[in-house]
Amino acid sequence: MADDPMRATIIDGKVFAAGLVGRITAATGALITSHGIKPGLAVVIVGEDPASQIYVRNKGETTARAGMRSDTHRLPDTTTQAELLNLVQSLNEDPGIHGILVQLPLPSQIDSAAVLGAIDPDKDVDGFHVVNAGRLAVGLPGLVPCTPLGSTMLLKARLRDLSGLHAVIVGRSNIVGKPMAQLLLAENCTVTVAHSRSRDLPALCRTADILVAAVGRPEMIRGDWIKPGATVIDVGINRVPSADPVKAAEGKTRVVGDVLFAEAVEVAGAITPVPGGVGPMTIACLLANTYVAACRANGIVPSALDA
Ligand code: GUN
Repeated sequence: MADDPMRATIIDGKVFAAGLVGRITAATGALITSHGIKPGLAVVIVGEDPASQIYVRNKGETTARAGMRSDTHRLPDTTTQAELLNLVQSLNEDPGIHGILVQLPLPSQIDSAAVLGAIDPDKDVDGFHVVNAGRLAVGLPGLVPCTPLGSTMLLKARLRDLSGLHAVIVGRSNIVGKPMAQLLLAENCTVTVAHSRSRDLPALCRTADILVAAVGRPEMIRGDWIKPGATVIDVGINRVPSADPVKAAEGKTRVVGDVLFAEAVEVAGAITPVPGGVGPMTIACLLANTYVAACRANGIVPSALDA
């Protein structure tokens, strides 16, 4: 059957991420053979949150598959702030570790901001440290948060030149919304950051050539909020009851984005699915950041990783 011209192109994040991981793996191999440097990522998880356990296992396995050193530090949920800060300090001082990621959320006895602030900014592969937020804001080289970095790569792969386009970002978090705004400004977009208090959100979204949904509200963005032909990046990962009432009654769940995909796909020009859109890019960008951090720590110019 011919493609339906009214339906959006699906931006396949799995395929794009696999290509990126392939390029990182090759660059890592070259770094090891020509300089004897093996990039090392340390992931720290505190407690037993099931979603975090899955993310951390995934990160560890993908890192090792790319040929990097992968250390996972699993701490009990009774860990004190001082104990966690001690571990971060020892990782900061370990020359074999180039990237440190402390999985969030942390248990309530721990001050997350203090822990993130204790990570050496040059090893902060999450890009959450205020120094990296500042570098991004003023256009200095640093480490950029993985989800907005991966989202921007998908946009550039789809649209090539983003210059002059109106990007509306729904969500103003430090992890996604704000860094996404900085990255799109750097690509010469006109950027609007909308949020839960914005007036007439549907009308605002309808002005977007690029719509980035990062609110964490399942399927909030409807088809009639989207300008025909717009490019939609759905950052949401929301677990909701199964659409089948029998399965839902058995406790079965499914994962949906912040965009109501079935409606949006009829209006948008291109859209990322959930799952399989931005998610795989986030892990790939974590590896990219680890590779870049390992190069910089040794005064080596990183290889270009773009397609
Ligand atoms: N928890 C959920 N997503 C993330 C992430 O990207 N980084 C960290 N450190 N924790 C998370």
